[in-house]
Amino acid sequence: MSDSSKEDYSDYFEVTPWKVEGSVDYARLIKKFGTQEITDELLEKFKSFTGELHPLLEHKFFFSHRDLDWILNKYENNEKFYLYTGRGPSGMVHLGHLMPWFLTKHLQDKFDSNLLFQITDDEKFLYGNKSMEEINRNVYENILDIIAIGFNKSKTKIIVNSKHIKHLYSTSLEIAKRITFSTAKSIFGFTNSTNIGMIGFPPLQGVPCFLPSILEGRPTPVLIPAAIDQDPYWRLTRDIAEKIGFYKPAQIHSKFLPSLQTVGKMSSSDPETAIFTTDDLDVIEKKISNTFTGGQPTISLQKKLGGNPGVCSVFSYLKYMFDTPAESNERELRCRSGNLLCGECKNDLSSHSTSFISIFQQKREKAKDLVSEFMYSEDR
Ligand code: TYM
Repeated sequence: MSDSSKEDYSDYFEVTPWKVEGSVDYARLIKKFGTQEITDELLEKFKSFTGELHPLLEHKFFFSHRDLDWILNKYENNEKFYLYTGRGPSGMVHLGHLMPWFLTKHLQDKFDSNLLFQITDDEKFLYGNKSMEEINRNVYENILDIIAIGFNKSKTKIIVNSKHIKHLYSTSLEIAKRITFSTAKSIFGFTNSTNIGMIGFPPLQGVPCFLPSILEGRPTPVLIPAAIDQDPYWRLTRDIAEKIGFYKPAQIHSKFLPSLQTVGKMSSSDPETAIFTTDDLDVIEKKISNTFTGGQPTISLQKKLGGNPGVCSVFSYLKYMFDTPAESNERELRCRSGNLLCGECKNDLSSHSTSFISIFQQKREKAKDLVSEFMYSEDR
């Protein structure tokens, strides 16, 4: 039944913008990062604007925030906010990356927000050993994914750092001047062997937090949907925001869609751990058939003892991507009571994923004609 020996019940985990390791304890992470839990009360407030709760909020996949209540109050008082999110083009896009983008699209639709979408090609060149040529190919492929999400063309602008640097540079200098190496070291864990490009990079990821205020000519609130690994950047940006006359950016943080194979998150650099939007459908089926589950070693033990959805990647994918909350609860009950075998869940995931990806791939094809319309330019 369980076709992997992945279980890791140790307490160790680490989350940085470049590394997610171990079995993440999200409640502990909130304390460690100093963020706020998204409470039921806050969700109710959210719902009063949106009329419904997006499943990623209902499932608490988005679980933490900074100043989400503040930004909703601003909205209530007729101060509209920008959305800001991004992608580091280290490879192809996987299902995990899509999760914050799904919520971003929902927020754009519900709050009629402008969106800045930053692509940090510089970051991915500096971190790791890919050539700029390879990164440029990824940038193009990743842009197709971003457009395929269905963002509103007239309200979305994609910024590619190396291409649009002249629009970013002066604000990045304002930020950089106010951050000491000692602060950057303690937030990001830089060491003497970190290349100085990486040490100088964080202000650039901070710039789109402030760009809306510059574009609009008045202080403009910004909400950043992302997984919680990106939070260190916002800690840094929030520290200096008011010193240079801007609002602190607000955030809404998600958990990680887990790896298919081991504890930790899906990773672009290890193809077996993730389902990519560019994977052939038969490759997806094969990956899912080899996925880690929370099942028992044999069918008879599964029927007797039940499985453990809490550590099952297949269950997580179904829960966060395809099942409604009611379907997911039902699946969990059947699994725990031994009435559901891993094969059935894998089949469900396989058929949902392949039909989702085949539709998504058609949208990626259509996106090829739209790239220039989504790119940032000052005269928007
Ligand atoms: P990147 O390319 O690592 O990730 C892109 C977005 O996907 C989120 N993410 C995940 N979400 C759920 N499950 C996963 N397994 C998973 N893996 C990654 C990330 O949190 C991110 O939201 N430096 C950034 C690019 C960036 C950015 C931003 C991201 C620039 N500006 C503003 C968010 C917001 C990066 O390399 O992301």
